[in-house]
Amino acid sequence: MHLTKIERAMLVGAEGPAVQKAMQIVVALAEIYEAPSLVAVASAQIAGVSYKNLGDAGLEFLQEWAGQGARVRVPAFLNPAGMDLERWMEMGVSPEFAGQQQRVIEAFAAMGVSLTCTCTPYLVGYAPEAGEHLAWSESSAVSFANSILGARSNREGGPSALAAAVTGRTAAYGLHLLENRRATHLVEVHCRPRSETDFGALGYLVGSRVGDGIPYFRFQTPSALPSPSKREHWMALGAAMAASGAVALYHVEDVTPEAQSALLPARSYPVVEIDSLDPAYAALDSPLQELDFVSLGCPHSTLADVERVANLLEGKQVKATLWVTTSRQVRWIAEQRGWVAKIEAAGGKVFADTCLVVAPMEEMGFQSMATNSAKAAFYALAHSGLQRRLGTMEECIEAAIHGRWRGTV
Ligand code: F3S
Repeated sequence: MHLTKIERAMLVGAEGPAVQKAMQIVVALAEIYEAPSLVAVASAQIAGVSYKNLGDAGLEFLQEWAGQGARVRVPAFLNPAGMDLERWMEMGVSPEFAGQQQRVIEAFAAMGVSLTCTCTPYLVGYAPEAGEHLAWSESSAVSFANSILGARSNREGGPSALAAAVTGRTAAYGLHLLENRRATHLVEVHCRPRSETDFGALGYLVGSRVGDGIPYFRFQTPSALPSPSKREHWMALGAAMAASGAVALYHVEDVTPEAQSALLPARSYPVVEIDSLDPAYAALDSPLQELDFVSLGCPHSTLADVERVANLLEGKQVKATLWVTTSRQVRWIAEQRGWVAKIEAAGGKVFADTCLVVAPMEEMGFQSMATNSAKAAFYALAHSGLQRRLGTMEECIEAAIHGRWRGTV
């Protein structure tokens, strides 16, 4: 593997033990994946922030690295943490958990990482340019950056993304190389997804069929396609495919930036036919009637999502606990526009910095939930022990108001 003079110096410790440790991680990955060289990254998005996932061992690892003097040298920002950093008490998070979570955040802050705590950094000022190399780690963010924005990132682990931030480099393999960004499967969609929930259901089906492949979508009813600006649909599609499979890049005919060069003319591709989304709903929805928790915002809600929730709740009161999870920046703008006040007047909560998958839900006593996110439904049972219903945002809001599932709205 070729290393530049500067990279070799980092590896032998010329910039101190913290940078040396980071370069060792980057080089070890490069060796595992037989990368010919390293590549400079424009930014790093670091997952593995929740104390629920890190535990004490992860916290000590971060504190030690920060104590050795690790500092990021490219813009680096955090994935959601296990709690709203300011309103954790309202979530029902214990002081013990909150204390440890705060220490995790302090360790990242000491290394110069921006405390964005969101899986949608591209909505809050960290949208990469097409062709830029990144070291991002949250799967839905990686999918959006690669597929919709045309940037280039493998799905990094938390430590490897941090190592990339500290060295400014990652291993040049996988999706950093143009030849690895071509489609591996053709997906013919014969039905008509209409909502973000349907796009998530579609993503669930395709991810479970293609695994870590690169699907090329051809929608048979193109008039049903959302415009490229309907980003909530693409966010839901990518998030679900990354959850049920390990899809980090997809192409959509006539929509995504690399679609034109994604199919090789002479090659025949395995074809995935999607005639109906029913199998996804059969797997992710259930006949549950009573609900005590409703979660919207996986991936983190856009401003348009928060506005929709505010409008749907106008003049209503919720019976079930309702969380809308988003980034701090989106919540701030939504506060200025009065949407957070409307949601909270109805009894809902708009939490920043966290989501139901990384928060310590098992401490909070919920039994059953509704969500409009196929990814959240996929993980709810495994990560949070919650039985779940999957439906549109309108159905979820109705469920929050009545504490019961009422179905099609
Ligand atoms: Fe984001 Fe949490 Fe969903 S990190 S994609 S809101 S599981």
